Amino acid sequence: MFEKPEELKKIFDEKAKAAEDTGAVEQLRIEFLGKKGFIQGLMQELRNIPNEKKKEAGQKINETKQFIEEQIARRLEELKKAEERKLIEATESYDESMPVNVDLGSYHPITLVRCELESIFLSMGFAVEDYSEITDDYNCFEALNIPKHHPARDMQDTYYLSTNQLLKTHTSAAQNTILRKYKSNLESGNPIRAIFPGRCFRNEKIDACHENTFFQMEGIMVDKDISISNLIYFMKTMLSEVFQKDITVRLRPGFFPFVEPGFELDIQCLICGGEGCSSCKDSGWLELCPCGMIHPNVLTAAGIDPEQYTGFAFGLGLTRLAMMKYEVGDIRVFNSGNLKSLSQFTDKSFFDPDSIKEA
Ligand code: PHE
Repeated sequence: MFEKPEELKKIFDEKAKAAEDTGAVEQLRIEFLGKKGFIQGLMQELRNIPNEKKKEAGQKINETKQFIEEQIARRLEELKKAEERKLIEATESYDESMPVNVDLGSYHPITLVRCELESIFLSMGFAVEDYSEITDDYNCFEALNIPKHHPARDMQDTYYLSTNQLLKTHTSAAQNTILRKYKSNLESGNPIRAIFPGRCFRNEKIDACHENTFFQMEGIMVDKDISISNLIYFMKTMLSEVFQKDITVRLRPGFFPFVEPGFELDIQCLICGGEGCSSCKDSGWLELCPCGMIHPNVLTAAGIDPEQYTGFAFGLGLTRLAMMKYEVGDIRVFNSGNLKSLSQFTDKSFFDPDSIKEA
């Protein structure tokens, strides 16, 4: 009887018990199953076994081989789990007094400007609303007094989806939804005040001051007796807060089917100081905030009686504002994904743990 496979199993069992990490088990695998291992050695010995016993002996060797393979796999699994557990336990008790040594991220400049504006408007009683980037013809145009074939649509060509939907060309696309959402305010004697920032899309030839994907922030206020002076007040307050200095602005008539009267609020280019540069198309002025009194048809479309209520709307160019505030001369930087450019604007001391300790 060929006993060696049985003996080998016993030897393996003992050694396996002593192997306490995955490295030791790997050693065992080489020792027993490797090219020059014990199993291979037994195979060689088969040559010396008489023919009639070869089959039985071969079977025994194979069984032993299989047994060792299974044991190794099981032991490896056990040890891996134990090692993972140890690692988790070790990381759970980390040293809180150690300095943080990770590369902290930064905010995108448009996010920074958006957050700043949101807190300014929140302090003035405005709600901050979100709206989808995909909308439909009704919300983007019809509800805004821009019927089919109106020439105002030419300036707002966009990306149309096969589902009869489109990517919104301006944040005004949310006006109808937001007006409807808050119109019960009016019934209870309160104004509608909301801002809704968002990403907009247009079929645009890209250059230093035009992008096909950009951000706007829309604002609306509706109540009894809202007038242009309310609009001008909010615009001025907002701009002086954002720039923390006197900004030269000008208001000129502008046409948008959803406001009447409509204006263009321009600010003097902060990049060239009004002398003319590529960002302001050499005019010294930048269109920053088209605005106006909400057209009665828009109020009616949202179920609000224009005889009783009036309101203003503005569509602030958030991307433009970020360009002005951070003196970025080329709009293409914002969507470039260039971290070297984009990470400069976050005040890193905000994240600095030492500055928190001092505070
Ligand atoms: N939605 C307009 C645009 O993107 C801007 C605008 C908003 C004009 C609100 C007036 C009032 O061109």
